[in-house]
Amino acid sequence: DSKRITVIPGDGIGPEVIEPALAVLDVLALGVRLDVLDQVNAETYLSTGSALSPADLDRIRTSEATLLGAVGDPRLGDTAYVRSVLTTLRSELDLYANYRPVRLWHDRLSPLRDDTRRAIDCVIVRENTEGLYSGVGGSTRTGSPQEIAIDVDLNTHHGVSRILDFAFSVARRSVCVVDKANAVRNGGQLWQRCWHEAVERHPQFDTSHLYVDAAAMKLVTDPTAFDVIVTNNSYGDILSDLTAALAGGLGVAASANLNPATRQGLFEPVHGSAPDIAGTGIANPFAAILSAALLIEHLGHAEEADAVRRAVAAAVEAGRVTPDLGGSLSTKEVGAVVLAELRQP
Ligand code: NAI
Ligand code: MG
Repeated sequence: DSKRITVIPGDGIGPEVIEPALAVLDVLALGVRLDVLDQVNAETYLSTGSALSPADLDRIRTSEATLLGAVGDPRLGDTAYVRSVLTTLRSELDLYANYRPVRLWHDRLSPLRDDTRRAIDCVIVRENTEGLYSGVGGSTRTGSPQEIAIDVDLNTHHGVSRILDFAFSVARRSVCVVDKANAVRNGGQLWQRCWHEAVERHPQFDTSHLYVDAAAMKLVTDPTAFDVIVTNNSYGDILSDLTAALAGGLGVAASANLNPATRQGLFEPVHGSAPDIAGTGIANPFAAILSAALLIEHLGHAEEADAVRRAVAAAVEAGRVTPDLGGSLSTKEVGAVVLAELRQP
Protein backbone atom coordinates (compact mmCIF):
# COMPACT_ATOMS: atom_id res chain seq x y z
CA ASP A 1 0.00 0.00 0.00
CA SER A 2 1.42 3.38 -0.96
CA LYS A 3 -0.84 5.60 1.14
CA ARG A 4 1.13 8.66 2.15
CA ILE A 5 0.18 10.72 5.18
CA THR A 6 1.65 14.18 5.65
CA VAL A 7 2.53 15.02 9.24
CA ILE A 8 3.08 18.54 10.57
CA PRO A 9 4.20 18.31 14.21
CA GLY A 10 4.40 22.12 14.49
CA ASP A 11 5.28 24.05 17.64
CA GLY A 12 5.11 23.78 21.42
CA ILE A 13 3.29 20.65 22.54
CA GLY A 14 2.51 19.84 18.88
CA PRO A 15 5.52 17.53 18.40
CA GLU A 16 5.04 16.12 21.93
CA VAL A 17 1.48 14.93 21.24
CA ILE A 18 2.12 13.93 17.64
CA GLU A 19 4.77 11.41 18.71
CA PRO A 20 2.34 9.09 20.54
CA ALA A 21 -0.23 9.59 17.77
CA LEU A 22 2.32 8.36 15.21
CA ALA A 23 3.16 5.44 17.48
CA VAL A 24 -0.51 4.48 17.35
CA LEU A 25 -0.50 4.63 13.53
CA ASP A 26 2.62 2.52 13.57
CA VAL A 27 1.27 -0.21 15.84
CA LEU A 28 -1.88 -0.54 13.73
CA ALA A 29 0.28 -1.38 10.71
CA LEU A 30 -2.09 0.19 8.19
CA GLY A 31 0.55 0.30 5.49
CA VAL A 32 0.69 4.09 5.47
CA ARG A 33 3.87 5.99 4.73
CA LEU A 34 4.60 9.05 6.82
CA ASP A 35 5.90 12.21 5.21
CA VAL A 36 6.95 14.41 8.12
CA LEU A 37 7.20 18.15 7.39
CA ASP A 38 9.11 19.07 10.51
CA GLN A 39 10.27 22.40 9.15
CA VAL A 40 6.74 23.79 9.07
CA ASN A 41 7.02 25.71 12.33
CA ALA A 42 7.67 29.04 13.98
CA GLU A 43 11.47 28.74 13.64
CA THR A 44 11.18 28.55 9.87
CA TYR A 45 8.73 31.44 9.85
CA LEU A 46 11.06 33.53 12.00
CA SER A 47 14.05 32.93 9.77
CA THR A 48 12.41 32.99 6.33
CA GLY A 49 9.10 34.82 6.76
CA SER A 50 7.11 31.84 5.58
CA ALA A 51 6.48 28.46 7.20
CA LEU A 52 4.60 26.65 4.46
CA SER A 53 6.29 26.59 1.06
CA PRO A 54 4.52 25.87 -2.24
CA ALA A 55 6.45 22.57 -2.29
CA ASP A 56 5.04 21.67 1.14
CA LEU A 57 1.56 22.48 -0.10
CA ASP A 58 2.08 20.18 -3.07
CA ARG A 59 3.16 17.34 -0.82
CA ILE A 60 0.10 17.93 1.33
CA ARG A 61 -2.25 18.18 -1.60
CA THR A 62 -1.03 14.95 -3.15
CA SER A 63 -1.09 12.98 0.09
CA GLU A 64 -3.97 10.90 1.40
CA ALA A 65 -4.47 13.05 4.51
CA THR A 66 -2.60 15.37 6.87
CA LEU A 67 -2.10 15.11 10.62
CA LEU A 68 -1.15 18.34 12.39
CA GLY A 69 -0.07 18.85 16.00
CA ALA A 70 -0.39 22.56 16.62
CA VAL A 71 1.16 25.78 15.43
CA GLY A 72 1.68 28.95 17.42
CA ASP A 73 4.54 30.73 19.13
CA PRO A 74 4.46 33.44 21.77
CA ARG A 75 7.28 35.28 19.94
CA LEU A 76 5.04 35.70 16.92
CA GLY A 77 1.74 36.78 18.41
CA ASP A 78 -1.48 35.14 17.37
CA THR A 79 -2.51 36.25 13.94
CA ALA A 80 -0.14 36.31 10.95
CA TYR A 81 1.90 33.15 11.48
CA VAL A 82 -0.85 30.83 12.68
CA ARG A 83 -3.14 32.09 9.91
CA SER A 84 -0.35 31.60 7.35
CA VAL A 85 -0.38 27.90 8.15
CA LEU A 86 -3.92 26.99 9.23
CA THR A 87 -5.90 29.40 7.08
CA THR A 88 -3.72 28.66 4.06
CA LEU A 89 -4.26 24.92 4.46
CA ARG A 90 -8.00 25.29 4.96
CA SER A 91 -8.47 27.63 2.01
CA GLU A 92 -5.96 26.04 -0.40
CA LEU A 93 -7.56 22.63 0.13
CA ASP A 94 -11.06 24.13 0.48
CA LEU A 95 -11.61 22.25 3.72
CA TYR A 96 -15.05 23.69 4.31
CA ALA A 97 -16.29 21.19 6.88
CA ASN A 98 -14.90 21.30 10.38
CA TYR A 99 -15.96 18.10 12.13
CA ARG A 100 -15.63 18.10 15.91
CA PRO A 101 -16.93 15.04 17.69
CA VAL A 102 -17.26 15.10 21.47
CA ARG A 103 -17.83 12.13 23.70
CA LEU A 104 -17.75 11.89 27.47
CA TRP A 105 -15.19 9.12 27.97
CA HIS A 106 -15.87 8.91 31.69
CA ASP A 107 -18.42 10.42 34.09
CA ARG A 108 -15.58 11.81 36.16
CA LEU A 109 -14.59 14.17 33.34
CA SER A 110 -17.94 15.99 33.29
CA PRO A 111 -18.29 19.35 35.01
CA LEU A 112 -22.08 18.88 35.13
CA ARG A 113 -23.93 18.07 38.34
CA ASP A 114 -26.87 16.19 36.86
CA ASP A 115 -25.43 12.73 36.31
CA THR A 116 -28.43 11.62 34.24
CA ARG A 117 -27.74 14.22 31.56
CA ARG A 118 -24.00 14.23 31.26
CA ALA A 119 -23.39 11.72 28.57
CA ILE A 120 -22.60 14.05 25.71
CA ASP A 121 -21.98 12.21 22.44
CA CYS A 122 -22.40 14.66 19.62
CA VAL A 123 -20.65 16.30 16.72
CA ILE A 124 -20.28 19.98 16.05
CA VAL A 125 -20.13 20.64 12.32
CA ARG A 126 -18.65 24.08 11.83
CA GLU A 127 -18.58 25.91 8.52
CA ASN A 128 -14.91 26.58 7.98
CA THR A 129 -14.54 29.04 5.11
CA GLU A 130 -17.00 31.92 5.45
CA GLY A 131 -19.15 33.64 8.08
CA LEU A 132 -17.66 36.23 10.39
CA TYR A 133 -14.15 34.91 9.77
CA SER A 134 -14.30 35.56 6.02
CA GLY A 135 -11.70 38.31 6.34
CA VAL A 136 -13.97 40.76 4.54
CA GLY A 137 -14.17 44.12 6.23
CA GLY A 138 -12.13 47.11 7.22
CA SER A 139 -11.91 50.05 9.49
CA THR A 140 -12.00 53.75 9.01
CA ARG A 141 -10.64 56.59 11.14
CA THR A 142 -8.52 53.86 12.68
CA GLY A 143 -7.11 54.70 16.09
CA SER A 144 -9.35 57.72 16.59
CA PRO A 145 -12.38 58.00 18.87
CA GLN A 146 -14.45 58.05 15.65
CA GLU A 147 -13.13 54.67 14.52
CA ILE A 148 -15.57 52.35 12.83
CA ALA A 149 -14.60 48.69 12.38
CA ILE A 150 -16.52 46.28 10.21
CA ASP A 151 -16.15 42.51 9.84
CA VAL A 152 -18.55 41.05 7.33
CA ASP A 153 -20.54 37.94 8.20
CA LEU A 154 -20.39 36.42 4.75
CA ASN A 155 -22.79 33.60 3.87
CA THR A 156 -23.33 32.11 0.44
CA HIS A 157 -26.05 29.74 -0.71
CA HIS A 158 -23.29 27.42 -1.96
CA GLY A 159 -21.39 27.53 1.35
CA VAL A 160 -24.41 27.09 3.58
CA SER A 161 -25.98 24.33 1.47
CA ARG A 162 -22.83 22.25 1.34
CA ILE A 163 -22.17 22.43 5.08
CA LEU A 164 -25.79 21.47 5.80
CA ASP A 165 -25.52 18.53 3.39
CA PHE A 166 -22.31 17.47 5.11
CA ALA A 167 -24.03 17.63 8.51
CA PHE A 168 -26.85 15.37 7.31
CA SER A 169 -24.32 13.00 5.75
CA VAL A 170 -22.65 12.38 9.13
CA ALA A 171 -25.83 12.31 11.23
CA ARG A 172 -26.88 9.20 13.08
CA ARG A 173 -30.25 10.45 14.34
CA SER A 174 -30.75 14.16 14.03
CA VAL A 175 -29.38 17.48 12.87
CA CYS A 176 -29.86 20.64 14.89
CA VAL A 177 -29.26 23.84 12.93
CA VAL A 178 -27.96 26.69 15.07
CA ASP A 179 -28.07 30.32 13.96
CA LYS A 180 -29.28 33.69 15.17
CA ALA A 181 -31.84 34.31 12.46
CA ASN A 182 -33.94 36.47 14.77
CA ALA A 183 -31.18 39.09 15.06
CA VAL A 184 -28.79 38.49 12.16
CA ARG A 185 -31.44 38.76 9.51
CA ASN A 186 -29.98 38.27 6.04
CA GLY A 187 -27.60 35.45 6.78
CA GLY A 188 -30.18 33.97 9.13
CA GLN A 189 -32.83 33.85 6.42
CA LEU A 190 -30.37 32.27 4.02
CA TRP A 191 -29.51 29.59 6.59
CA GLN A 192 -33.22 28.97 7.24
CA ARG A 193 -33.98 28.60 3.53
CA CYS A 194 -30.98 26.37 2.91
CA TRP A 195 -31.98 24.28 5.91
CA HIS A 196 -35.49 23.68 4.55
CA GLU A 197 -33.97 22.73 1.18
CA ALA A 198 -31.52 20.36 2.86
CA VAL A 199 -34.32 18.69 4.84
CA GLU A 200 -36.02 17.87 1.52
CA ARG A 201 -32.82 16.14 0.38
CA HIS A 202 -32.40 14.22 3.67
CA PRO A 203 -35.91 13.35 4.85
CA GLN A 204 -34.76 10.33 6.86
CA PHE A 205 -33.35 12.37 9.76
CA ASP A 206 -34.95 14.29 12.57
CA THR A 207 -34.10 17.93 12.42
CA SER A 208 -34.52 20.95 14.65
CA HIS A 209 -33.44 24.53 15.02
CA LEU A 210 -32.09 26.58 17.93
CA TYR A 211 -30.85 30.12 18.26
CA VAL A 212 -27.24 30.07 19.35
CA ASP A 213 -27.91 31.52 22.81
CA ALA A 214 -30.53 28.87 23.51
CA ALA A 215 -28.21 26.20 22.12
CA ALA A 216 -25.46 27.24 24.55
CA MET A 217 -27.86 26.91 27.45
CA LYS A 218 -29.31 23.60 26.30
CA LEU A 219 -25.83 22.15 25.84
CA VAL A 220 -25.18 22.74 29.53
CA THR A 221 -28.59 21.69 30.84
CA ASP A 222 -28.99 18.61 28.63
CA PRO A 223 -26.15 17.78 26.24
CA THR A 224 -27.64 14.30 25.72
CA ALA A 225 -30.28 15.92 23.49
CA PHE A 226 -27.86 16.45 20.61
CA ASP A 227 -26.54 14.33 17.79
CA VAL A 228 -25.18 16.66 15.07
CA ILE A 229 -25.14 20.42 15.55
CA VAL A 230 -24.41 22.41 12.40
CA THR A 231 -23.59 26.08 12.51
CA ASN A 232 -21.52 28.88 11.06
CA ASN A 233 -17.83 29.55 11.55
CA SER A 234 -17.94 31.75 14.66
CA TYR A 235 -20.78 30.01 16.52
CA GLY A 236 -19.11 26.69 15.77
CA ASP A 237 -15.83 27.97 17.15
CA ILE A 238 -17.47 29.00 20.42
CA LEU A 239 -19.88 26.08 20.84
CA SER A 240 -17.16 23.53 20.19
CA ASP A 241 -15.07 24.92 23.04
CA LEU A 242 -18.16 24.60 25.21
CA THR A 243 -18.75 20.99 24.16
CA ALA A 244 -15.05 20.22 24.65
CA ALA A 245 -15.32 21.51 28.22
CA LEU A 246 -18.36 19.26 28.78
CA ALA A 247 -16.25 16.23 27.85
CA GLY A 248 -13.02 16.88 29.74
CA GLY A 249 -11.49 19.88 28.02
CA LEU A 250 -9.08 20.65 25.21
CA GLY A 251 -6.89 17.69 26.06
CA VAL A 252 -9.49 15.31 24.60
CA ALA A 253 -10.95 17.40 21.75
CA ALA A 254 -10.19 16.09 18.26
CA SER A 255 -11.13 17.54 14.92
CA ALA A 256 -11.07 17.04 11.19
CA ASN A 257 -11.13 19.66 8.44
CA LEU A 258 -12.66 18.00 5.43
CA ASN A 259 -13.70 18.43 1.85
CA PRO A 260 -15.94 15.44 1.12
CA ALA A 261 -15.87 16.16 -2.61
CA THR A 262 -12.08 16.02 -3.03
CA ARG A 263 -11.61 13.69 -0.02
CA GLN A 264 -8.91 16.04 1.31
CA GLY A 265 -8.58 16.03 5.07
CA LEU A 266 -6.57 17.80 7.74
CA PHE A 267 -6.77 16.16 11.14
CA GLU A 268 -5.72 18.04 14.26
CA PRO A 269 -6.39 18.40 17.95
CA VAL A 270 -8.57 21.42 18.72
CA HIS A 271 -5.97 22.76 21.13
CA GLY A 272 -3.05 25.01 20.24
CA SER A 273 0.66 24.80 20.99
CA ALA A 274 0.13 25.42 24.75
CA PRO A 275 3.36 27.36 25.35
CA ASP A 276 2.56 27.42 29.08
CA ILE A 277 3.19 23.67 29.40
CA ALA A 278 5.38 22.98 26.35
CA GLY A 279 8.54 21.11 27.27
CA THR A 280 7.23 19.93 30.64
CA GLY A 281 6.07 16.56 29.29
CA ILE A 282 2.54 16.74 30.70
CA ALA A 283 0.53 17.57 27.58
CA ASN A 284 -2.45 15.29 27.12
CA PRO A 285 -1.92 13.24 23.93
CA PHE A 286 -5.56 12.05 23.69
CA ALA A 287 -6.72 14.90 21.43
CA ALA A 288 -3.93 14.11 18.96
CA ILE A 289 -4.48 10.35 19.24
CA LEU A 290 -8.24 10.78 18.72
CA SER A 291 -7.52 13.04 15.74
CA ALA A 292 -5.36 10.25 14.34
CA ALA A 293 -8.35 7.94 14.90
CA LEU A 294 -10.47 10.25 12.74
CA LEU A 295 -7.75 10.11 10.09
CA ILE A 296 -7.65 6.31 10.28
CA GLU A 297 -11.42 6.22 9.85
CA HIS A 298 -11.15 8.61 6.90
CA LEU A 299 -8.76 6.15 5.25
CA GLY A 300 -11.42 3.46 5.57
CA HIS A 301 -10.24 1.66 8.70
CA ALA A 302 -13.30 2.11 10.90
CA GLU A 303 -12.54 -0.89 13.11
CA GLU A 304 -9.02 0.26 13.87
CA ALA A 305 -10.34 3.74 14.64
CA ASP A 306 -12.79 2.22 17.12
CA ALA A 307 -9.99 0.22 18.70
CA VAL A 308 -8.05 3.45 19.26
CA ARG A 309 -11.09 5.04 20.90
CA ARG A 310 -11.58 2.00 23.12
CA ALA A 311 -7.92 2.20 24.14
CA VAL A 312 -8.35 5.86 25.10
CA ALA A 313 -11.55 5.04 27.00
CA ALA A 314 -9.74 2.26 28.88
CA ALA A 315 -6.90 4.58 29.86
CA VAL A 316 -9.40 7.15 31.13
CA GLU A 317 -11.37 4.47 32.97
CA ALA A 318 -8.18 3.32 34.72
CA GLY A 319 -7.25 6.90 35.63
CA ARG A 320 -4.02 6.52 33.66
CA VAL A 321 -4.13 10.07 32.40
CA THR A 322 -2.27 13.40 32.39
CA PRO A 323 -2.78 16.12 35.06
CA ASP A 324 -5.41 18.05 33.05
CA LEU A 325 -7.70 15.02 33.53
CA GLY A 326 -6.77 14.59 37.17
CA GLY A 327 -4.00 12.02 36.69
CA SER A 328 -0.27 12.09 37.25
CA LEU A 329 1.14 10.45 34.12
CA SER A 330 3.32 12.11 31.51
CA THR A 331 2.56 12.42 27.79
CA LYS A 332 4.90 9.51 27.05
CA GLU A 333 3.43 7.32 29.80
CA VAL A 334 -0.11 7.89 28.58
CA GLY A 335 1.04 7.11 25.04
CA ALA A 336 2.50 3.84 26.32
CA VAL A 337 -0.78 2.97 28.08
CA VAL A 338 -2.72 3.46 24.84
CA LEU A 339 -0.22 1.34 22.90
CA ALA A 340 -0.41 -1.43 25.50
CA GLU A 341 -4.22 -1.39 25.26
CA LEU A 342 -4.00 -1.60 21.47
CA ARG A 343 -1.58 -4.51 21.59
CA GLN A 344 -3.92 -6.59 23.78
CA PRO A 345 -5.37 -9.47 21.79
P1 NAI B 1 -3.98 26.38 23.73
O1 NAI B 1 -5.02 25.43 23.27
O2 NAI B 1 -2.61 26.17 23.23
O3 NAI B 1 -3.94 26.36 25.34
C1 NAI B 1 -5.03 26.75 26.15
C2 NAI B 1 -4.87 26.14 27.56
O4 NAI B 1 -5.18 24.73 27.49
C3 NAI B 1 -3.47 26.25 28.10
O5 NAI B 1 -3.53 26.47 29.49
C4 NAI B 1 -2.87 24.90 27.81
O6 NAI B 1 -1.86 24.52 28.71
C5 NAI B 1 -4.07 23.98 27.90
N1 NAI B 1 -3.92 22.83 26.98
C6 NAI B 1 -4.05 22.87 25.64
N2 NAI B 1 -3.83 21.67 25.11
C7 NAI B 1 -3.53 20.84 26.14
C8 NAI B 1 -3.19 19.46 26.22
N3 NAI B 1 -3.10 18.67 25.13
N4 NAI B 1 -2.94 18.93 27.45
C9 NAI B 1 -3.02 19.70 28.55
N5 NAI B 1 -3.35 21.01 28.54
C10 NAI B 1 -3.59 21.58 27.33
O7 NAI B 1 -4.51 27.84 23.36
P2 NAI B 1 -3.75 29.24 23.49
O8 NAI B 1 -2.89 29.27 24.70
O9 NAI B 1 -4.80 30.26 23.32
O10 NAI B 1 -2.82 29.32 22.20
C11 NAI B 1 -1.44 28.99 22.19
C12 NAI B 1 -0.92 29.12 20.77
O11 NAI B 1 -1.52 28.13 19.94
C13 NAI B 1 -1.24 30.46 20.13
O12 NAI B 1 -0.13 30.84 19.37
C14 NAI B 1 -2.43 30.17 19.26
O13 NAI B 1 -2.51 31.04 18.17
C15 NAI B 1 -2.14 28.77 18.82
N6 NAI B 1 -3.32 27.97 18.45
C16 NAI B 1 -3.14 27.07 17.45
C17 NAI B 1 -4.16 26.21 17.11
C18 NAI B 1 -3.89 25.17 16.08
O14 NAI B 1 -2.74 24.89 15.77
N7 NAI B 1 -4.91 24.57 15.52
C19 NAI B 1 -5.47 26.27 17.75
C20 NAI B 1 -5.53 27.20 18.86
C21 NAI B 1 -4.48 28.03 19.16
MG1 MG C 1 -11.30 28.19 18.86
